[in-house]
Amino acid sequence: MADISVKYMGLDLKSPIIAGSCSLTSDVAKVREAEAAGAGAIVVKSLFEEQIHSEAGHIAGQSHDYAESADYIHYFVRQNSIDSYCENVRQLKNATGIPVIGSINCYTDGEWIKFAKEIASAGADALEVNIYSMPVSLKRKSADVEKEDIAIIKDIVKAVDIPVSVKISSYFTALPYFIDKLASVGAKAAVMFNRFYMPDIDIDRMEIVPSSPFSSKDEYVKELRSIAIVSSLVRNIDISATTGIHSPESAVKEILAGATTVQLCSVLFKSGMGVIRDFNSFISSYLDKHGFGSLREITGRLNYSSISEPDKFERTQFAKIFGTAK
Ligand SMILES: Cc1cc2nc3c(=O)[nH]c(=O)nc-3n(C[C@H](O)[C@H](O)[C@H](O)COP(=O)(O)O)c2cc1C
Repeated sequence: MADISVKYMGLDLKSPIIAGSCSLTSDVAKVREAEAAGAGAIVVKSLFEEQIHSEAGHIAGQSHDYAESADYIHYFVRQNSIDSYCENVRQLKNATGIPVIGSINCYTDGEWIKFAKEIASAGADALEVNIYSMPVSLKRKSADVEKEDIAIIKDIVKAVDIPVSVKISSYFTALPYFIDKLASVGAKAAVMFNRFYMPDIDIDRMEIVPSSPFSSKDEYVKELRSIAIVSSLVRNIDISATTGIHSPESAVKEILAGATTVQLCSVLFKSGMGVIRDFNSFISSYLDKHGFGSLREITGRLNYSSISEPDKFERTQFAKIFGTAK
């Protein structure tokens, strides 16, 4: 059987398959199942700064005490949320032998640093920073948003002594430049791409409604091209693929494009943690079938600079391919 172990952000993983951040990965029993099925690592559900503020705001709103009590409520809820998150990380570390990657999503400078430090002291092996807030202003320029993001990552990397990855959106005009900047400030991996909550519209009730939180099996192509381009242009950063990876075949495609690891989420809700076993055995048999001894030999084998016609990744318009389609 071919070796499917990988080094991701300097961590030794037995498999490139990671159980991605979601409610399943905060659950000790589920994480044990993931480990038994051969997961390389897990990313714990994110600690969301926004959620802490809204919870504190809700409690403070119900309080009829003096206004100063709102500050205390905020402080208490915030500390309590960080403490329970760190306790969860400790429990997961005690329950499993695979790397446990903490995850944060914040939007205030100082908060990121505090959360990151506490999660690192709780024993997380690495930290995934989920860094996106929807710009809803005519005054915020894209270059400024990117600058702020880079500054935050730089500060977090300086503050903790565990590897830091950055889970990003696909909404970038010049993605290779941004990821190169992430690498230059010390990020060890880029997780491409987060799939956000998507609002939809109910046209009869005239209301905003949530669309499905789960991806479909064809969505994996969304990151495939970008992974192929970034993995060939940017040095010193690993890539972890996420979104739409429902089959072992799509996992192999992401690896051929240049991903070191592959994160699963929707498929774990649909088929259970046991599906990780199928991914591992397919990847191993794939390597055997094609005469490769290790995953390293196929990682990025079909990336932008490794193929004879790189313009296949540059082409974005349908003109040539479907120009004559009837
Ligand atoms: C129910 C649910 C909860 C999620 N929670 C988080 C989270 O806390 N933090 C995060 O970074 N991503 C979260 N995600 C996003 C997933 O980690 C993943 O990036 C995304 O679902 C795309 O992968 P998939 O196509 O395999 O589902 C969540 C996704 C789902 C469906």
